[in-house]
Amino acid sequence: MIRSVVRGFGTALPKRVLTNRELESMVDTSDEWIVQRTGIRQRYIAGEGETTASLGAEAARAALDRAGLSPADIDLIIVATSTPDNTFPATAVNIQNRLGMSHGYAFDMQAVCSGFVYAMATADAYIRGGMARRVLVIGAETFSRILDWTDRTTCVLFGDGAGAVVLEALEGEGTVADRGVLTSQLRSDGAHRDKLYVDGGPSTTGTVGHLRMEGREVFKHAVGMITDVIVAAFDATGLSVDDLDWMVPHQANRRIIDGSAKKLGIPLEKVVVTVDLHGNTSAASIPLALAAAAGDGRIKEGDLVLLEAMGGGFTWGAVLLRW
Ligand code: UT7
Repeated sequence: MIRSVVRGFGTALPKRVLTNRELESMVDTSDEWIVQRTGIRQRYIAGEGETTASLGAEAARAALDRAGLSPADIDLIIVATSTPDNTFPATAVNIQNRLGMSHGYAFDMQAVCSGFVYAMATADAYIRGGMARRVLVIGAETFSRILDWTDRTTCVLFGDGAGAVVLEALEGEGTVADRGVLTSQLRSDGAHRDKLYVDGGPSTTGTVGHLRMEGREVFKHAVGMITDVIVAAFDATGLSVDDLDWMVPHQANRRIIDGSAKKLGIPLEKVVVTVDLHGNTSAASIPLALAAAAGDGRIKEGDLVLLEAMGGGFTWGAVLLRW
C-alpha cells in the first residue's frame, strides 16, 4: 500500500517582528489583554518585497534541502493560502517558477486556516492515486495585508509566514504502524460564512477587502468542531489518544488549543504551541509548528502526530500521520 511520508520540512518568516507592546501604540489594546485572551506575544509582518510567494518559495527550498532533494524531484506543488500574490495565476505556479521548475504541476488550495490540513489530505490522495510521487505541500500567508489595522478585535491576532513539507510515496504494509498519512478527515459548512470572512473579492467588490471576524462566535464553535474530527480520525484508524505522541494544532488561540486538548484528554506536554511567537498565520501555522517540533528533535521518526485546524468557511479537519 502506498503511503505519503514526510521527507523534509522548512519554514520562512518575514524579517520584522511586531510585539504586543508596539500594538499598544497603534490601537486601544494591551500586552496583558492579548497574552491573557490569546497567548500571542509577537508576530512577524511582511515588509517590502516579502510576499506569500517569496515566503512560500523560501520555505519550500528549506524543505527540499532538509530532504536532500532538488526541485527536479518534485511532481506537484500545492499551496494553501488565502492571501495569494495575485487573484491569478496561482501562488503555487509563482513558487514553481521561483524554484526554477517548468515540469510537473501546481495549484492553490483555499480553506483559510484549515488550508494546510486540506492540502495534506489532497497531496496524500494524489500520491496514493498515483498522480504524483513527491509533493511540496506549502502553507504560506501574508494576512497583514488583509487586516484592518484600526480594528483591535482582529489586527492583534494574525501574522505572516510560511511552512512547507515534502511528502513522498513509500510502500507500506497497510497497517497503522506504517509511516505516513494514516487518515484525513475534512469538513466544511458554508452557513457560518458571516462569522469569519473577507469583505471584498474580485467578483463582488473588485477589491481585496479586509478580514472581518466575530471572534466570540468562532470561538464558540472551534473546540467542538476540532474534537469531532479528531475523534473521527481515531475511529477511522482504531487508534486512540493514548497512542498519540504529538498534537500539532492550528495556532489561533492558546485557549482553543488547551480547551481541545483537555476535552480529548491529551496532556499539554504532547501539544506543540507556537502561537506565542507567530500569532495566527492561518494556513502557515501548522507547518511552522510542525517544523519547530521536528527541528528541535521533539517529533521523531515513528511518532504518531495529529494535525488539526478550524477556520473561515467554516472549514475544519484533522490528519493523523506517523512521522
Ligand atoms: O484561525 C481560525 C479562526 N479564528 C479563531 O479561532 C479566533 C477565535 N476567537 C478568539 O480567539 C477569541 O474570541 C478572541 C481572541 C478573538 C477574543 O477573545 P474573547 O475572550 O472571545 O473576547 P471578546 O470578543 O468576548 O471580547 C472581550 C472584550 C470586549 O470588550 P467588552 O465588550 O467586554 O467591553 C472587546 O471589545 O475585549 C475587548 N477587546 C479587546 N480589548 C483589548 C477585543 N479586542 C481587544 C483588544 N484589546 N485587542
